[in-house]
Amino acid sequence: MGKVFQFSQTVVVVGIVLGAASVASIIGLAVVYSQELAKNAEPTVEATTTPASTTTPTPSSELWDQYRLPDTLKPYEYNITLWPHLTKNADGLYSFTGHSTVDFECVKETDLILIHSNKLNLTKSSGHHATLTGLGGAVAPTIKTTWLQETTEYLVIQLNSKLEPGKSYQLYTSFTGELADDLGGFYRSEYYEGTELKVIATTQMQPTDARKAFPCFDEPALKAIFYMTLIHDRKTVALFNGMEIATVNTTMEEVEVSVTTFEPTPIMSTYLLAFVVCEFDFIRTPAAAEVLIRIWARPQAIAEGQGDYALNKTGPILDFFERYYNATYPLKKSDQIALPDFSAGAMENWGLITYRETALLYDPKMSSNDDKEWVATVIAHELAHMWFGNLVTMKWWNDLWLNEGFATYVSFLGADKAEPDWKVRDLFVLTVHGVFGVDALASSHPLSYSEKEINTPAQISELFDSITYSKGASVLRMLSEFLTEAVFSKGLSTYLNEFKYSNTVYTDLWKHLQAAVEQTPLVQLPYTIEEIMNRWILQMGFPVVTIDTSTGTISQKHFLTDPESVVDRPSIYNYEWFVPITWTKNGVQQDPKWLTTKTTDYAPMKTTEWVLANLNVTGFYRVNYDLPNWERLLTQLNTNPRVIPVINRAQIVDDAFNLARAKIVDTVLALKTTEYLSKETEYLPWQATVRSLDYYFLMFDRTEVYGVMQKYLKKQVTPLFEHFKNITADWTSIPTGHSDQYNQVIAISLACKVGVEGCSDLTLAWFKEWMKDPKNYFIHPNLKQTVYCNGIAAGGVDEWDFAWEIFKNSSNAVEADKLLYALSCTKVPWLLNRYLQYSLDPNMVRKQDATFSIIYIAGNVIGQPLAWDFIRANWKFIFNDYGGGGLSFSRLITGTTERFSTEFELNQLLSFKAEHAETGFGSATIALDQSIEKTKANIKWVAENKKKVNQWLSSAAGQP
Ligand SMILES: *[C@@H]1O[C@H](CO)[C@@H](O)[C@H](O)[C@H]1NC(C)=O
Ligand SMILES: *[C@@H]1O[C@H](CO)[C@@H](O)[C@H](O)[C@H]1NC(C)=O
Ligand SMILES: *[C@@H]1O[C@H](CO)[C@@H](O)[C@H](O)[C@H]1NC(C)=O
Ligand SMILES: *[C@@H]1O[C@H](CO)[C@@H](O)[C@H](O)[C@H]1NC(C)=O
Ligand SMILES: [Zn+2]
Repeated sequence: MGKVFQFSQTVVVVGIVLGAASVASIIGLAVVYSQELAKNAEPTVEATTTPASTTTPTPSSELWDQYRLPDTLKPYEYNITLWPHLTKNADGLYSFTGHSTVDFECVKETDLILIHSNKLNLTKSSGHHATLTGLGGAVAPTIKTTWLQETTEYLVIQLNSKLEPGKSYQLYTSFTGELADDLGGFYRSEYYEGTELKVIATTQMQPTDARKAFPCFDEPALKAIFYMTLIHDRKTVALFNGMEIATVNTTMEEVEVSVTTFEPTPIMSTYLLAFVVCEFDFIRTPAAAEVLIRIWARPQAIAEGQGDYALNKTGPILDFFERYYNATYPLKKSDQIALPDFSAGAMENWGLITYRETALLYDPKMSSNDDKEWVATVIAHELAHMWFGNLVTMKWWNDLWLNEGFATYVSFLGADKAEPDWKVRDLFVLTVHGVFGVDALASSHPLSYSEKEINTPAQISELFDSITYSKGASVLRMLSEFLTEAVFSKGLSTYLNEFKYSNTVYTDLWKHLQAAVEQTPLVQLPYTIEEIMNRWILQMGFPVVTIDTSTGTISQKHFLTDPESVVDRPSIYNYEWFVPITWTKNGVQQDPKWLTTKTTDYAPMKTTEWVLANLNVTGFYRVNYDLPNWERLLTQLNTNPRVIPVINRAQIVDDAFNLARAKIVDTVLALKTTEYLSKETEYLPWQATVRSLDYYFLMFDRTEVYGVMQKYLKKQVTPLFEHFKNITADWTSIPTGHSDQYNQVIAISLACKVGVEGCSDLTLAWFKEWMKDPKNYFIHPNLKQTVYCNGIAAGGVDEWDFAWEIFKNSSNAVEADKLLYALSCTKVPWLLNRYLQYSLDPNMVRKQDATFSIIYIAGNVIGQPLAWDFIRANWKFIFNDYGGGGLSFSRLITGTTERFSTEFELNQLLSFKAEHAETGFGSATIALDQSIEKTKANIKWVAENKKKVNQWLSSAAGQP
């Protein structure tokens, strides 16, 4: 996916699947070029363990060795002044200077102050790193000693006497810090305007980097009011969560500067702070608008109108959420800013949302419909957080799934309001299918952790995964569906109202939803919301529900992709769920049924008509049937597929292929679900197929099976290719429907991949025209990625170098992303090796994109072994410079090992793990274990299925 964090419709067929699980996975992710883990951690700090295996400090250790703050002090107001220097200092460093105060109340008697501070050089005054004064008549104890506890990231202040409960004090610190290009805390982003280098100072605090910008009590429950003053170059503008009050020109330390002061924030968490100093332009809503909305970006991007789409959609989406939550937007303004360097997709800082450029900017000449959907969805996700997450915040990170799962779910509702024609709510099934893959591993984990399990920054970072985002969203959607949206949003509204400006645990939401249910006689549940939902959030995985229409029996079983994998995580619910089953018989919708036991008899399901369950895949489970019912479904698909809802056509394919992998049904049954596709023109079933077959491509594209696979798919996709050729008047227009546009891309990229006549000629001709006149030749943005990839794959060094030049000089992030991907498509090994080298050179590939270019290269069958060798050879460097936390980092392992299916490769993985045990794997730890598990499963699967698949495909391909 050209679009770094986005799941793309096309990449699947041309390369590797990064997994739809990633759709939103990273949107809020903070990220994490986690120096602290990589460089400074002592070996005993298990920066690399799974969250469950916490490094809980031993009882004898001192308070400053504990990662959680003691409950003795409660901050209520900060006053911060910061001055980022946008030119290098004498030591060749970019730095910032600043000072801040925090007013706090003593809650329990103590002679110790612990406050987070990381990588700041604190100025000493009277021999100590801080000064303490009493407020409101309180007398401050004198300071005995102060030091920095690097492991736990504290400034430790021991006092000569005790702070008194009920009294308030002020702590003052003055400090300098590096304005590094590490994408965390207060950091530096750069871009060129012509040949002039421009430097931006910006922030990414979530989850634990506010402490890198100023000393603070950096836990989400320690909410306070923040005052901010920014000192900055006169030609720059300064932004903060609160609105600017005044900018005054003055001279400081003999430098001409501006000083901007801001309105204080509401009571909020430290991780939601943001401040930016830059030379950006903005567009805004008219003065009369209730909420001031501003879109900020590089002046060129604003001049080109790239912010217009975001400005157009933000208002309507905010209105939608005000109605949905039945609560007005809590702030006066909403700034949204597009940054050239940004680790996550976007970050929901209250009142000043930061984005990757690709997640906020839209250019009709350059952006595909996929890019546009991403913009609408990310904006909706971040705006949803303004209430859920920001106004009401989780008490501790263990409840992150609720925050992110919720925003991910409602982002589909918000985007649906912004673009009603797109039917994006239907596309949610792709999120479900994506995360099913992750959650069906024995090494998956429950959505919810206990507070005690999550302590270190590494453990917190590791929570930002697809389970948290996509499974969280999927189970909340299931809940909203069986409660009805009216009840769900009513409970939400009272929840937000009760807990505004404070913190909650997830059961607080259940209580409010339960109260809403009880006021609605129409919704009848077999158990309380808590009893139902606990089974979905406290145990990992999900069930496969089997319906036997010959007996009317329904049963459930924990679904595991590898049936032989060992689940060593116990569950008090025994891996059984309370499952809401919606279903149709012969296309007629039936009363829903709750499955609350392992197995049950349900007479209405005893039938000889076709039964289809989990309508529109609103439930988080797979469905299996007795063989005769499968046959009836196949017959229905082959005769009149439209009787089956389009989402369920996609489900049948996805379920069948995955049930086959789990050896629950025969592989041939799965393959048979693709036979009807020669009659299918809808996007979702094709997307499900392409994703299912992606596994076959990965397993077989280095074997003889690949030939027959191509032949069979050529036969299946040719009608689709012709269909789009017809409806686009021989490729001269673009289909009108959003999904049809996606499917057109599948038609072309799959057709080219499997050798449909005319396809390569078509894309190559476009590529050549474009090479002749890149400024003026227009390739529709939807097709660019496919065209670039095919052109580069068919070409040599000239094509590659040409595309590289355009990539380097592009001032448009979505165009650059498409090229970043397409450059990995070459078949020339030395070009791939050179591209790998470029990836780790920040002058060639931005740090934010580095892991992606490596993953893309690994997606190429020729690049895969090169990328794997490259990672092994450079692991230490990659880990120290790029790793430690963050989903993109863990994908590096997942992406490069996805084809592994031999004993030889398994051994390589195992020795890789052993060899680098000392360096560690940071947030890729779980991913590495998952890769080992997956490789073992792949070995078995290939051994058992290769012959069968080859035979079936040969005979299916041979038929006229
Ligand atoms: C915050 O500090 C600045 C100087 O650093 C001072 O001018 C201002 O009055 C302070 N604001 C509050 C609310 O204390
Ligand atoms: C902080 O102090 C260390 C040690 O003296 C020094 O190497 C580093 O450059 C300082 N950082 C800044 C931003 O001044
Ligand atoms: C401050 O200086 C800048 C640049 O010299 C100028 O554009 C701006 O108008 C000045 N602002 C005030 C309030 O004087
Ligand atoms: C934004 O809205 C205006 C006014 O409705 C419209 O003319 C313009 O085309 C829209 N721009 C984009 C990029 O959607
Ligand atoms: Zn989020």
